[in-house]
Amino acid sequence: RKPIIAGNWKMYKTRDEVLSFVYAVNEKMPSNDLVDSVICSPALYLRDLVKRQGSNLRIGAQNVHFAEEGAYTGEIAPKMLVDAGVKYVIIGHSERRAMFNETDESVNKKIHAAFNHGITPILCVGEMLEHRENNQTETVIKEQIVKDLEGLTAEQVTELVIAYEPIWAIGTGKTATPEVADETCGFIRETVKELYGDVVSEAIRIQYGGSVKVNNIKELMAKPNIDGALIGGASLEADNFIYFVEAAIQE
Ligand code: 13P
Repeated sequence: RKPIIAGNWKMYKTRDEVLSFVYAVNEKMPSNDLVDSVICSPALYLRDLVKRQGSNLRIGAQNVHFAEEGAYTGEIAPKMLVDAGVKYVIIGHSERRAMFNETDESVNKKIHAAFNHGITPILCVGEMLEHRENNQTETVIKEQIVKDLEGLTAEQVTELVIAYEPIWAIGTGKTATPEVADETCGFIRETVKELYGDVVSEAIRIQYGGSVKVNNIKELMAKPNIDGALIGGASLEADNFIYFVEAAIQE
C-alpha cells in the first residue's frame, strides 16, 4: 500500500502563512511519488494552494456538505470543491462529530457525495478515553465503520482512506503507543474484511492520527497496519511536513 501523509490544518493560518508554507514545501518535497502527500486547509485557501501545489502535493478540504446544492447557509457543496481542484476531503473528524453535530448518518451521506464527485474521502473514526478504559474501543469503532460505510461499493472502499484517531490522543500530546495504534488499525482492517473481503481490506489505506510528531512518526510508520498519518498541530510547519513525508518513504 502506498503511504499517505495528510496535514489537517484545522482553523489555523493566515493567507500569508499558507503561501510561505506551500513555497517552502515545494522546494523541499521529494521528487519521487512513493508517498501521497496531502494538505487539508481551511476552505478559503484551497484555491490558493491548488494553484501553487507542486507535482507531489495534493490539496484536501476539511468538510463538505452532502447535498448537490441548496439553501444551506455557510456550507460548501462537493461540486464547489471539484471546481477548486480539491482531491481529498476529511469526513467525520471527531471535532466535527463533537462540536458540529455530525452523525454516522451525515458522515455516510458525505462519503457518498464525495465519491459521486471523484473526491477521495479521509474518514475519521476513533474512541473516547472512557471507551478505551471500559474495553469498548472495538465495539465503538466497529459501529462507526459499519454505519459510515453503508452502501459503498468494494471499489469505493478500496479508494477510501480511513484515519484512526483516538479522541484522547488528539491535541493532547498523548500519542497512542505504536502497538496500540497498530492493533486498532488492524482491527479496522479486520472489520473491513468482514464487510468487503480480503482484497479490499488488504488494499485500503489506514492512517493513524493523534499527536503525531517528528519524534514518533517513524515508529508509527514501521507498523504493518499503519499506512500513513493524519497530522494536526505538527503539520503546520513546512519542515515538519517534509520530515513526515520523508519518514513515510523510508519506512
Ligand atoms: P494533532 O496532531 O494536533 O493531535 O491532531 C490530530 C488530528 O486531529 C488530525 O486530524
